[in-house]
Amino acid sequence: MAKNSPIGIFDSGVGGLTVANAIADALPKESFIYFGDTKHLPYGDKSNEAITKYSLEIVDFLIGEGCKAIVIACNTASAIAYDVLNEKYGKILPVINVIDPVVEAIALRKHHLVGVIGTRATINSRAYETRLHKELSDVHVSSVATPLLVPVIEEGLAHTSISRQILAHYLSNPALGSIQALILGCTHYPLLHQEIEDLLENKVEIIDSPQIVAESVSQILSAHGILANQKHSSHLFYLSDYTETFHRIAKTFFSESIDLIEKRLD
Ligand code: DGL
Repeated sequence: MAKNSPIGIFDSGVGGLTVANAIADALPKESFIYFGDTKHLPYGDKSNEAITKYSLEIVDFLIGEGCKAIVIACNTASAIAYDVLNEKYGKILPVINVIDPVVEAIALRKHHLVGVIGTRATINSRAYETRLHKELSDVHVSSVATPLLVPVIEEGLAHTSISRQILAHYLSNPALGSIQALILGCTHYPLLHQEIEDLLENKVEIIDSPQIVAESVSQILSAHGILANQKHSSHLFYLSDYTETFHRIAKTFFSESIDLIEKRLD
């Protein structure tokens, strides 16, 4: 696999841009191809079969475009489709999910009371509980599905009274009452980080996945001997359905002149 081939990164929408941005910061020589499956957004309310089908199609496409590694920059697809994707493609290239690196980071911090917020599919999968219990026998995990947050972000309503009210409602759930750390178990949620921090009044450590995942991507590419060694990186953005919000948020993370290509997969 060529070192200077792009990394394939995908999500249902803008959430994975938080991961792509952290990867670009941590590994400035890397190029990536980003796929936002806005046509099928939100993944969190879809069936496991649908999420797996979309993920397989996207990864087939990204591999066809010459990607050297795949980052599933979506907790929902990581929770539901990672095993299938890794089984199918793991022998030809690294397939990286966003859940395992976060679980490893929590295990190092040795928190015992951990909260997780995520989409319905992620929470129902119990992916965080199962993996955290393997790493820390005495951890107590409280999980709360927060399905309105992705549509709010994709509608461009982050940092408004609407997002604050919805967050206040979810975070006041008694299940999250005594947690030491809160995992933002959806890659969209770092876009609400400040609002979440304000509501939690610095009493809870907020675990954002993008930087943790970027660090893990760096280690995995290095272990496979496929870290880019060229000076200039370039990125491509594919969307299954063009949205203004995606374009606007992508421009805030990257440059004014990003290459945004509409690509329908079925
Ligand atoms: N960013 C995706 C995640 O991490 C959002 C899922 C959705 O589209 O509902 O789960």
